[in-house]
Amino acid sequence: MKLYYLYFACLLLMASCNKKEEVLKIKSPDNNIEVSFDVNEKGEPYYTVSLKNKTVIDSSGMGFEFKTQNPLQSNFQISKADITKVDETWQMPWGEQLVVRNNYNELKVVLEEQSEAKRQLVVNFRVYNDGIGFRYEFPEQGSVKELVITDENTEFNLTGDHTAWWIPGDWDIYEHLYTKSKFSEIDALSKRDHPNLSATYIPENAVNTPVTLKTDDGLYVSFHEADLTDYSGMTLKVDKENTAFVSELVGSKNLEAKAKITLPFKTPWRTIQIAERAGDLIESNLIVNLNDPNAIGDVSYFTPMKYVGIWWEMHIGKSTWDYEASQDMTTYVEGNASSKSHGATTENAKQLIDFASENNIKGMLVEGWNTGWSQWLSGNREGIFDFMTPYPDYNFDEVMKYAKEKGVEIIMHHETSSAPRTYEKQMEVAYNFMKKHGINSVKTGYVGTIFPKGEYHHGQWMVNHYHKVLEEAAKKKIAVNAHEPIKGTGKRRTYPNAIAREGLRGQEFNAWASDGGNPPSHLPTVAFTRMLSGPIDFTPGVFNIKFDEYRKSNQVNTTLAHQLALYVVINSPIQMACDLPEHYMKDGKIHPMFQFISDVGVNWEKTKVLNGEVGDFVTIARKERETGNWFVGGITNEEARTVTLTFDFLEEGATYKTIVYKDGSEAHWKDNPQEYEISEGDLIKGKTLVIPMAAGGGFAISVIKKEIQG
Ligand code: NOJ
Ligand code: CA
Repeated sequence: MKLYYLYFACLLLMASCNKKEEVLKIKSPDNNIEVSFDVNEKGEPYYTVSLKNKTVIDSSGMGFEFKTQNPLQSNFQISKADITKVDETWQMPWGEQLVVRNNYNELKVVLEEQSEAKRQLVVNFRVYNDGIGFRYEFPEQGSVKELVITDENTEFNLTGDHTAWWIPGDWDIYEHLYTKSKFSEIDALSKRDHPNLSATYIPENAVNTPVTLKTDDGLYVSFHEADLTDYSGMTLKVDKENTAFVSELVGSKNLEAKAKITLPFKTPWRTIQIAERAGDLIESNLIVNLNDPNAIGDVSYFTPMKYVGIWWEMHIGKSTWDYEASQDMTTYVEGNASSKSHGATTENAKQLIDFASENNIKGMLVEGWNTGWSQWLSGNREGIFDFMTPYPDYNFDEVMKYAKEKGVEIIMHHETSSAPRTYEKQMEVAYNFMKKHGINSVKTGYVGTIFPKGEYHHGQWMVNHYHKVLEEAAKKKIAVNAHEPIKGTGKRRTYPNAIAREGLRGQEFNAWASDGGNPPSHLPTVAFTRMLSGPIDFTPGVFNIKFDEYRKSNQVNTTLAHQLALYVVINSPIQMACDLPEHYMKDGKIHPMFQFISDVGVNWEKTKVLNGEVGDFVTIARKERETGNWFVGGITNEEARTVTLTFDFLEEGATYKTIVYKDGSEAHWKDNPQEYEISEGDLIKGKTLVIPMAAGGGFAISVIKKEIQG
């Protein structure tokens, strides 16, 4: 790691003569992005951001308000400023890229109040080639040990009425559809009335992050945060008058504030990704780079994998989580499940284990195996699960033994029903139980409103809970895939046992949502929004697209080939093949399209976004670690389109065999979603392939490196 420290003589001068000499400026390593920082005549700090001398973020203020202290936002002077340059690399233990370059220039400014109290606030900017991050640091000051923040007022002043892809600033859940609108037309309050969500709270016109915008000049800007630790999640209030976003932290009714911090304290980074090409947003490593290096050491106990599970069958209503079968997801769908059977039986689990071992699928998830599900949506959800007691028709030991014999890894499931205090009490015992049985990963869930009342999924209290889970799990060498989680903020760099999370409208909405599920534009939007925050457990792979025999009013709103493409498009080290084993069969044999799921990698050396436009389409190519094989996935929204792919990224001199899985010529997401074509060919570096996609369609390509004959 190279580190240089430079000091500005003029800055020191400024401090001593108490007079502004010049605005502080810092550029990205490639000199394209520039951040300026200063305080105005009232002593209020502000910053601007430009790309190639064109303003991207106009003069924007910052500051804090507290419960019992005066605000920290004016009457400042700059007392010190340091510049540091960093250029280093680090490796992802698993993920979308093996070697990551962390190259930025940093400006750290100490602001001091001119009043008696002389309180200090430090603002720290890191400027990368693909965007910026800045955070606040509260040094220890005098007798103040703790601050209760009632508002953080970070502004992001936009340069025009950009097009935005946004979800509402819900304090409880991210499971909303994205809306594309002009900034001035953002109306989060119109999303309040959502029949499918069991916990939702949208207090004002704000959006959640990542939120991505496109300017009229074709520039892409995406706002998010990195390293969210011991603080509340940030939503962005829509200030239409000033065409600006303003940070609005998720609050707590119990604290009657937004966050309580103990000094010294560093806030999360506020991040702005800037890209001239939409795909560069996806290739950016800004968010992970802004997190601390690995703090938990070796995580080889977790193997990136594909998995099957006892899961989709409950969502489409074939079976239930609950043994007594008295309750289905009745908050989500009409209908009584009492005629249905329990999904997690020993026999069913064994059948799935057989399917997995025969089809190169490493893992299996079992939901509904433990007692408590008859009350999981009830009023009192404390203490209903113990995470150790199986239902009588699920022989835990027998399933574990069978899985081991067949070389399949079982993934544990802990639905907490949003009773985190209960979960924290059980965690140690539950994790010991897992390890005793050789289980290395757990899917957690937080359905419903949080107990205790007054806390929200995205507030500081829960941020600390999710963090505690990661820490406790890391101690036991357990990897965590959280559903109804806090958003990803790149903490997977520090805690690589945070393998994936939900935090979006997942596949399950296609099974039961009363609005008909996720439209074809959903994933082409998610790729440029939610996916910027990190891996997604979306659970792709539905082959029986219409599943009319289970639920006539719902279907998956894509073609079959689009489902295959998701194994590459979606970034995750765990990818479910979520459909029922019988739906993966055709004419008594495994479905020919399933070959792609068997072959596709889950752990990547490199990722390249070949094309794409937010909400319209995207094609991603990923090179598998160890084999050197490439896999390519492309998806489109409601519009059919043809893409031309140039394989200029393949290895010079190598020859590859391709298998192309695409939509049939008459395929259509609504009327004919299952028509497909498979073709084989050869490929070398530089060659192009032209691939048509149906409406709501997609394609997947295996690019397998041939043995080079010596
Ligand atoms: C919601 C999760 O997103 C889903 O995957 C899970 O099956 C149910 N909760 C039950 O835990
Ligand atoms: Ca969910």
